[in-house]
Amino acid sequence: MSGIKRIGVLTSGGDAPGMNAALRAVVRKGIYHGLVVYGINRGYEGLIHGEIQEMSLGSVADIVLRGGTILKTARSAEMRTVEGQLKATEQLHKSQIDALVVIGGDGSFRGAQTLAAQGLQIVGIPGTIDNDIAGTDLTIGFDTATNTVVDAVSKIRDTASSHERTFIVEVMGRDCGNIALQAGIACGAESILVPEIPYDLDEISDKLKRGHQRGKNHSIILVAEGAGSAFQIGEELRSRSGFETRITILGHLQRGGNPSALDAMIAAGMGGKAIEIILAHETSKMTAYVNQVIISTSLDAAYGKGRPFNRELYDLANELSI
Ligand code: F6P
Repeated sequence: MSGIKRIGVLTSGGDAPGMNAALRAVVRKGIYHGLVVYGINRGYEGLIHGEIQEMSLGSVADIVLRGGTILKTARSAEMRTVEGQLKATEQLHKSQIDALVVIGGDGSFRGAQTLAAQGLQIVGIPGTIDNDIAGTDLTIGFDTATNTVVDAVSKIRDTASSHERTFIVEVMGRDCGNIALQAGIACGAESILVPEIPYDLDEISDKLKRGHQRGKNHSIILVAEGAGSAFQIGEELRSRSGFETRITILGHLQRGGNPSALDAMIAAGMGGKAIEIILAHETSKMTAYVNQVIISTSLDAAYGKGRPFNRELYDLANELSI
C-alpha cells in the first residue's frame, strides 16, 4: 500500500441535491488516479464513531441524479468540542487517512478547519441549498431548491388568483435570503422579505392596496424563514390591509429531489477538482464555481464570511413589483 494515498469523504450539515453527484465524482476520479477512497457515514458524527468504509466504483453507481446523500449527514454537536475534534483526528489516523474531502456548508467547514490545524489535508466542497458561502457564485443544491420554490409558487399562484387571496410563502434561509430573493424575482413575487434587509409591513400593506386599486386581486409574498414568522406576517398584513391571507411553509421539501442539470454539473466538477487539489498536495482549499469555471480557492476566504447579499437584485425585485 505504500505510496498509495488514502483519502476520506463525508457529507455534513443540511443535505442538498447534488451531494451524491459530488461524492460520485470524488470516488470515481480518486480511484481513477490510484487513490483509495473511504466514505464516512453521518458526517462528523460518524467520523468520531469510526463509521468508515472503503468505497468502490460500484458503490456510487446510480446516484448521480439522486437527491439527499447516500453517506447520510448530521449536525454534530460533538465536533464543536475539542474532545470531539481529537476523536475525529484519531479515527482518521487509525484508518491511515491523511486527506479529507468535506461536502457541506459553513458549519462543516468550521469543523474541517480544526482538522486542518491538526495537520490533515483538507478540501471543502460547498454543498448547501442556502448559497451562503463566500468565494463561490453557487453552492451545490441552491439551483435545485430555487427551482423547487418557483415550481411551488407557480402552483400557489393558481389558487391565489382563483380565490383572490394574498399568500405568504415561507422558504428556507435562517440567516440568508438568497432562496427567497432568487426565487422571488424568478416568479415575480409582489414582495420579498429577507433577514438582510429591514422591512416595513405598512409599506407592504400599502403596496397590496395600490395593486388592488389597479385591479390586482392576488399577491405572493415570499418570506425567508430568518425574516420572521410567516403566520405573524400574514396576520399583520390581513389586519392592516383587510385582505384575506393564507400561509404556505415549504420547509424541507426544498432540500429534496433530483439535482438540476446545473447542480449535477457543478457537483461533478467540484468533486473532480477536489481530487486535483489533493493530488497537488494542497490543503485548506475549497472548490468554487466562479464565472462558470470550477476553481480552487482558499477555505479561509470562504469560511465564516457568508456571501454578500445581492442588493442590486433585491432593488430590481422592488422596482418590478411596484
Ligand atoms: O442549511 C440549510 C438549511 O436548509 C437552512 O436553510 C435551514 O434553515 C436549515 O438548514 C434547517 O436545518 P434542519 O434541517 O437541521 O432543521
